[in-house]
Amino acid sequence: MAIVSPSILSADFCGLGDQCRLVLEAGAGMLHFDVMDGHFVPNISFGVPVLASLHQGIPSAFFDVHLMISHPLAYVDAFARAGAGLINFHLESEDDPAAVLAAIRAAGCKTGMTIKPGTPAEALDPWLDQLDLVLVMSVEPGFGGQKFMPSCLDKLAALKARREALGLAFLLEVDGGVNDETAALCTRAGADVLVAGSSVFAAADPAGAVARLAAM
Ligand code: DX5
Ligand code: ZN
Repeated sequence: MAIVSPSILSADFCGLGDQCRLVLEAGAGMLHFDVMDGHFVPNISFGVPVLASLHQGIPSAFFDVHLMISHPLAYVDAFARAGAGLINFHLESEDDPAAVLAAIRAAGCKTGMTIKPGTPAEALDPWLDQLDLVLVMSVEPGFGGQKFMPSCLDKLAALKARREALGLAFLLEVDGGVNDETAALCTRAGADVLVAGSSVFAAADPAGAVARLAAM
């Protein structure tokens, strides 16, 4: 069984709260909240006030915040106060990873570190023992609805092996192009958490899509 983290980037923002409740009731373990700054990635999404509203309206939801921003350190506290359960930031961001991790922990959130498709899994080695979750991107970050890049599979397998060798317990998450076809490849390679945006929210039956992914 996989943990499903629907990416609300693909939701209908006109009814965002209802869309979140629907996927949570269908078995989503968390909600994936994609933050984009128009600088680290060539797109702008949503930020702190949207998370605060969702957290207030659905206090039981666990928010898996994915910061695709150049300077995560400056925003960790604000997202934590707004209700983040876990804060993912990119190893490729411009801030010192040690400082960002310390800020996330000090703010009381779980720690997540993310790598883009061009970054090797080994680059995470110095940080693995400080992470609750590792996010492997299976598309270039910035947009929903892109095609899955199979190169993430070797990285997932390598990180799973590394986790076992080091006796660690971080979760492995994959994000981008995850659907009924690619999800099984990801879980077989070692993914524990499946992020899915368009394959859930653009589906005729989003609840059914979550249930199918959770069964992977
Ligand atoms: C992409 C985001 C993803 C995105 C996934 O930069 O990090 O979370 O919403 O969307 P799909 O599942 O449609 O590829
Ligand atoms: Zn994401």
